[in-house]
Amino acid sequence: MRCDYHNGFLQVEDCDLGAIASEVGTPCFVYSRHALEQAWQDYDGAFGTRKHRICYAVKANDNLSVLKALQGVGASFDIVSGGELERALAIGAAPSDLVFSGVGKSEAEIQRALECGIGCINIESVAEVERVAIIAKRLAVQVDVALRVNPDVDAQTHPYISTGLKENKFGIPIDAAIAVYQRVADLPQLRATGIACHIGSQLTSIAPVVEAVTQVVRIAEALAVAGMPLEHIDVGGGLGIRYEEEQPPPVAELVAAMTRAIPERYTVVMEPGRSIVGKAGLMLTRVEYVKPNENRDFVIVDAAMNDLLRPSLYDAWHEVRPYAEASGGEAVRCDLVGPVCESGDWLAKDRTLAVRPGDLLAVLDTGAYGFVMSSNYNARRRPPEILVEGASFRVIRARETFNELLANERAHLIEK
Ligand code: LLP
Repeated sequence: MRCDYHNGFLQVEDCDLGAIASEVGTPCFVYSRHALEQAWQDYDGAFGTRKHRICYAVKANDNLSVLKALQGVGASFDIVSGGELERALAIGAAPSDLVFSGVGKSEAEIQRALECGIGCINIESVAEVERVAIIAKRLAVQVDVALRVNPDVDAQTHPYISTGLKENKFGIPIDAAIAVYQRVADLPQLRATGIACHIGSQLTSIAPVVEAVTQVVRIAEALAVAGMPLEHIDVGGGLGIRYEEEQPPPVAELVAAMTRAIPERYTVVMEPGRSIVGKAGLMLTRVEYVKPNENRDFVIVDAAMNDLLRPSLYDAWHEVRPYAEASGGEAVRCDLVGPVCESGDWLAKDRTLAVRPGDLLAVLDTGAYGFVMSSNYNARRRPPEILVEGASFRVIRARETFNELLANERAHLIEK
């Protein structure tokens, strides 16, 4: 995302962040339309003439305007819940362009997906095979499915977002895959069109992905020999991004390595999320107080772990950039913390910043797994989301109101 200083103040594209903060308040998330479309096009371009389908992983950022922009450049979608299905349908995505992933799909979710005519269900267990077949039979429909296999490959990422190891809950053990495809072949309601894997998120090296894809191809080839040929190979999510010192390879390198490992006749399906929207977003927050402490000061800002959970949950590092290039104050070592009543409520630790109360700060690279992981903890209203296009911006999700916060609750007790 283009995020630089102009005349001493930070802009996203050609839009002044101070103007956004004054109009919509802080905290808020700001996204660049150009950056997210460009990131999608980088993936698309990397495939060249190779048969492929890029299904943006909605979980990374599910705002309707974000989805609409990506649909506009040609994206299909990877969804993991009934709610994400409704979001995709709300922007007019064709159900046939949707892949439904997830380890615990409920009956209601599967039924709704089948009723709409979902493109593919990525099935993660034998029990799910049976559940999908029963629902399809009841609805008298046939559905395309892929089996997500677990290749037992170490993605070398944070343990919470590693998904392709035997000890993780995801996928069908790769050694059991052929037997499960045989079961699928016996069920007339299911048509096995593909095979899927996903080894984890924030991937910064290609080798484990190629290792997993190679194993998956081996299964696909064995299935073809056994008279059960597949049409597509779903390689899972996309690349990691550079938050601090990480050095993810260029998208083109990952795509080239994967496509080399996959025979031409298969369509390659990919589900990138973070690398599409992560660097296309930031969170704006304002300094409330500066509280001196022995080793380093506490800079207490108006955003908290309920707005951006990644630092608290994964110890994640996000760059913090002041809105005003020269704030005038003296730079001090500090921790950036929020107002929530937990010591785990922090956004950045041990930074050197010159800040005073009232200053505006940008927490960078928060377009992915930012707003979507926000909550109402401490009865805080979830922040607004803003989309920048050139020199103008629009509120694409308003700040929650106190009325909305209380709307679904009743203070309802039985009289004593
Ligand atoms: N496909 C499947 C089946 C997935 O489980 C995921 C992410 C993706 C695709 C997208 O992966 P990506 O391209 O974004 O790496 N909240 C965590 C990330 C959780 C990712 C879970 N699965 C974070 O903030 O780092």
